[in-house]
Amino acid sequence: MQPEDKARVPFVDLGAQWTLIREEALQKFDEILSTGKYLEHEVVLELEQNLAQRLGVRYVVTLNSGTDALLIALVALGVKKGDEVITVPNSFIATAAAIAHVDAIPIMVDVGEDHLIDPSKIEQKITPRTVAIMPVHLEGKVCDMDTIQAIAKKYHLAVIEDAAQSMGSRFEGRESGSFGDIACFSLHPLKNLNAVGDGGFIATNDEKFKNFAIAARNHGQSERNLSIFFGNVSRLDSIQASIVSMRLKALDSIILNRRKTADYYDRRLTGSSAQLPKYSPKVFHSYHLYVIEVDRRDEVQKALFARGVETKIHYPKLITDQPAYMSRFGIVHDIEEARIQSRRILSLPIHQNLDQRQKEYLMDTFLSTLKEQEGFSE
Ligand SMILES: Cc1ncc(COP(=O)(O)O)c(C=O)c1O
Repeated sequence: MQPEDKARVPFVDLGAQWTLIREEALQKFDEILSTGKYLEHEVVLELEQNLAQRLGVRYVVTLNSGTDALLIALVALGVKKGDEVITVPNSFIATAAAIAHVDAIPIMVDVGEDHLIDPSKIEQKITPRTVAIMPVHLEGKVCDMDTIQAIAKKYHLAVIEDAAQSMGSRFEGRESGSFGDIACFSLHPLKNLNAVGDGGFIATNDEKFKNFAIAARNHGQSERNLSIFFGNVSRLDSIQASIVSMRLKALDSIILNRRKTADYYDRRLTGSSAQLPKYSPKVFHSYHLYVIEVDRRDEVQKALFARGVETKIHYPKLITDQPAYMSRFGIVHDIEEARIQSRRILSLPIHQNLDQRQKEYLMDTFLSTLKEQEGFSE
């Protein structure tokens, strides 16, 4: 199935994002490339300082991806073979992959109606082997960090925030990624703060984790030609850092734009059969994604696509249903809410380059599609 034309409402418009910074970026690239400091130009350190300041943490270490951020965080915290790490089944595969890569075991906790870890179900999953909780701030919402931090304290567990989707989100006025021992962010092109390729970073208040990450991203080197352990190549390069720096300045206006669009969608969809995004009033939602729930989700998605509206599903298959997971960890049973949601969730386009006509077309089309599909419901 192909829509006749290019989607009238694309899910994302990376070309438009580039146009906005093109002049400034090309000038900066010229400056960086002329110096030859492709990996260690001052822009990298500047970006780290600006990100740390923005998050209200002591240190940020930039990395090549959110996935390596998770992996480095786990190793920094000493998570090892046979240890259990509590997380959720409805995240992106990278969350569980990082845990599996250190030979630890992801322990899946079901989610609440806000699609985030249900804190009331965490304690029953804690065993003597549990070493950490990895809450995932999905969609641009933030998990209930009050309760999670209290549980972690009670059982002496580390907290690693998977903040890949929540740059600029807040919980009780505090930035996501400023709560845990280490927080992990992604700068993937589809994120609200994004590079023009892969990128990520960790945030922490602990100097030893910062030092570990700096060495881990660069062959385990604590200084030039001195490797204190076997590391990786997980650096963010200077060109990517310069792009992210430019975009960091615009982050607040991007989030504001997305929040206004979400308000408009909320208003238009109130009273329809779609379930609007749910989240605690303590959360400042940055709307990385606008995820609704609908009956007959796949049919709705197909009908929208045929009318030029591109939607996505985050994610169509739970981590626990992925062959990689099942072949290693077996079948997980008590995640019923996540299972139900995975058949109903649909992410509507909410990017900052949508104009009012596109938003109106999206809502008109979505509402008429819902009405048509309701005719088919039992
Ligand atoms: C929740 C979550 N965790 C981890 C990652 C991994 O980040 P990256 O793609 O930068 O490796 C992503 C990326 O999509 C994500 O959404």
